[in-house]
Amino acid sequence: MADGSDKSWILMVTAQSPTNIAVIKYWGKRDETLILPINDSISVTLDPDHLCTTTTVAVSPKFEKDQMWLNGKEISLAGGRFQSCLREIRSRGTDYEDQEKGISIKKQDWEKLNVHIASFNNFPTAAGLASSAAGFACLVYSVAKLMNVKEDQGQLSAIARQGSGSACRSLYGGFVKWAMGNDPNGSDSIAIQLATEAHWDELVIIIAVVSSRQKETSSTSGMRESVETSPLLLHRAKEVVPKRIVQMEEAIKNRDFPSFAKLACVDSNQFHACCLDTSPPIFYMNDTSHKIISCVEKWNRTEGTPQVAYTFDAGPNAVLIAKNRQVATLLLQKLLFYFPPASETDLSSYLIGDKSILKEAG
Ligand code: ADP
Ligand code: DP6
Ligand code: CO
Repeated sequence: MADGSDKSWILMVTAQSPTNIAVIKYWGKRDETLILPINDSISVTLDPDHLCTTTTVAVSPKFEKDQMWLNGKEISLAGGRFQSCLREIRSRGTDYEDQEKGISIKKQDWEKLNVHIASFNNFPTAAGLASSAAGFACLVYSVAKLMNVKEDQGQLSAIARQGSGSACRSLYGGFVKWAMGNDPNGSDSIAIQLATEAHWDELVIIIAVVSSRQKETSSTSGMRESVETSPLLLHRAKEVVPKRIVQMEEAIKNRDFPSFAKLACVDSNQFHACCLDTSPPIFYMNDTSHKIISCVEKWNRTEGTPQVAYTFDAGPNAVLIAKNRQVATLLLQKLLFYFPPASETDLSSYLIGDKSILKEAG
């Protein structure tokens, strides 16, 4: 490692990862440590300009231990998830050389060097907007870059999965599937890109932030309780999701918005039904979330064909997918009319997945 005499150097990498929102949800693990799911899932990766994590990672011989700061506050790295990700990446580090700075690191040195990690989410953390997805994807990607890891995206996704299941899908843009896999060691439980963002670029995603408060039940403990107590979840994973995955892949391939929207909405509703079927029940959505669902359902019925799809992760915040920009502009107007800021059903903000809409909506 270098020549051992100069300990003043620091090697640093900064990366950004967007979050992703599942349109066919992951809910339930068959292996808690390796984070292996009970069903496949499909997601859309969001525009990184709006919801993303920025992580800076550094190594230096001066660092006495691994440390991490999340949104400016130090957090513990003791949990198995952080340890799994760091261990997996360190063991894959390769030789690094910077002759100008006189830094030479051999692959076995990565095990001895401590890392400092500073991460910021530009959107609410632990509020059901998949902060764990953007967070762990970014952590794995940036530490892998730092340690000169040469693995492909699929392998990195399998490491990110061990930080948070949904994180494996954030390694790719566009439409992404996380295959549950069969291998008990999880080697085939990886994310694959189904289509790039350009494949279906008419879609516009609007996120209505109903509450930015931290949820009471984390996704991890919520899904554990559902696996233990919900008969509906078992039925969903075995009988319902496999068929929906095939249909959703087909809808994405054909840019078939009516099928895409119907599948996304029913899947979100069934996931929340599983939460209600859990003992004791878990309530992630609130009255405002329910009003948003009614509003979209009514609009879609009136038009005779779906204009907007809704989906809610483990939290009350609505992810609304409009079939094109024109519909997105109308949707934004409706949201502002029915949920004006500072009203009883206040939405704290609307984040739009396409900047041009902001201009059009004025
Ligand atoms: P969410 O719906 O936001 O994904 P989860 O309950 O799944 O909520 O996960 C929240 C947890 O994810 C946080 O408590 C934290 O441990 C982890 N997390 C969030 N953001 C980051 C980040 N940027 N880097 C690393 N871990 C993060
Ligand atoms: C409702 O990936 O956050 O967002 O693997 O325990 O970290 P852990 O859970 P997490 O769960 C996400 C659940 C979901 C649906 C989804 O993203 O597929
Ligand atoms: Co999460």
